[in-house]
Amino acid sequence: MDDWQPAQVGMRVSEVDTPALLVDLDVLERNIAQLMRAVPAGVRVRAHAKTHKCAALARLQIAAGAVGMCVQKIGEAEALLRAGIDDILISNQVVGAQKIARLAALVAAFPQAELSICVDAMAQIDQLEGVFSQLSGAEAVQRLGVLVEINAGGNRCGVETPDEALALARRIAASAHLRFEGIQAYHGSAQHLRTPAERRTAIADAVSRARATRDLLAAHGLVCNTVGGAGTGTFALEAASGVYNELQPGSYVFMDADYARNQREAPNGEPGATGNNAPFSHSLFILATVMSRSPTRAVVDVGHKAHSADSGFPLVAGRADLRYYRPSDEHGVIELVADAQQGSSAANAASAAASAAASSIALPALGEKIRLIPGHCDPTVNLHRWFVAYRGDTVEAVWPIEAAGAFY
Ligand SMILES: Cc1ncc(COP(=O)(O)O)c(C=O)c1O
Repeated sequence: MDDWQPAQVGMRVSEVDTPALLVDLDVLERNIAQLMRAVPAGVRVRAHAKTHKCAALARLQIAAGAVGMCVQKIGEAEALLRAGIDDILISNQVVGAQKIARLAALVAAFPQAELSICVDAMAQIDQLEGVFSQLSGAEAVQRLGVLVEINAGGNRCGVETPDEALALARRIAASAHLRFEGIQAYHGSAQHLRTPAERRTAIADAVSRARATRDLLAAHGLVCNTVGGAGTGTFALEAASGVYNELQPGSYVFMDADYARNQREAPNGEPGATGNNAPFSHSLFILATVMSRSPTRAVVDVGHKAHSADSGFPLVAGRADLRYYRPSDEHGVIELVADAQQGSSAANAASAAASAAASSIALPALGEKIRLIPGHCDPTVNLHRWFVAYRGDTVEAVWPIEAAGAFY
């Protein structure tokens, strides 16, 4: 089972085994280029690999101009470093003896790599100091970059006030083993606010928090090389802020169904001519096979074990007349939207029979393959082990998802 792959290079897409994660390379490349075009000079892109967990995809982003990658977990950093990605920010808190020991081991094992993490508590710096002060030689000398995370309004991680950030930054800067790198101000809950106005308001607040912190630190001689944050929903706002200089968008490469529900900035709206949510398109699909058919439903081999459901069920690509619903572990049900709207209460037996006959024609046939657009790309990718990258109708590459399952 371990060496099972859903596809081989050169196959037609219709021959790919299912369930499989398909990546449309033309669209993916357009999304990557579009983001780079939308970012002004002087602002770096450090794309988030929590979305795809894949070294081949990271290499495409770096080739297009990203300075490196973000990850969220030590396990993801381990997988990508091993695969040759050597500039990584763990945009998250790393807490606990086991994890910090793994971090120190990475710093020692990859002397050429740039590695950074976030902190938001003095106790966390104490733990880092305790472990990194045990290292000897070159590994011990400020190889690990450390960013102080501030709460940018998302109320997840991060210190609340500039004074708290200053205290942490001073402590890091005074360390012989850690290197003060700057601040992270990521506003997660702003990303999926639906209207441009809501996102603008949220990010204006994040920018003012980041600015106040950056300026206080600077007044005490602590220069932030990095003021980082931003995701797919708001990156243009942070990019235009004059405060953020490093952006961390992830989902833009794939553009899932939930992100597509965000309203776009008007083309000539603020900020910039490209709008707030640059026009990314869906490049990620779950290929599914109809494995059972009745006159009124088609059952596909994609259920909860092949897609996440936290942001809604997948959409059926190119078939607005179909809906995917009622997933169980290994199954998902497809029906006509019209049938769902009509419900089971057809006026009489004759009209029920007529509608079943019409459904039977419109529904995909037994054995037919359909493409589903995941509701939320990151947790969907985490369930899979391969990307089947195709162009036109031909499989061009099969990429391992090296950090799949690395949520530790
Ligand atoms: C710290 C951080 N930065 C960036 C991102 C990327 O966000 P997105 O995938 O919405 O672009 C995330 C996503 O959760 C995140 O947690």
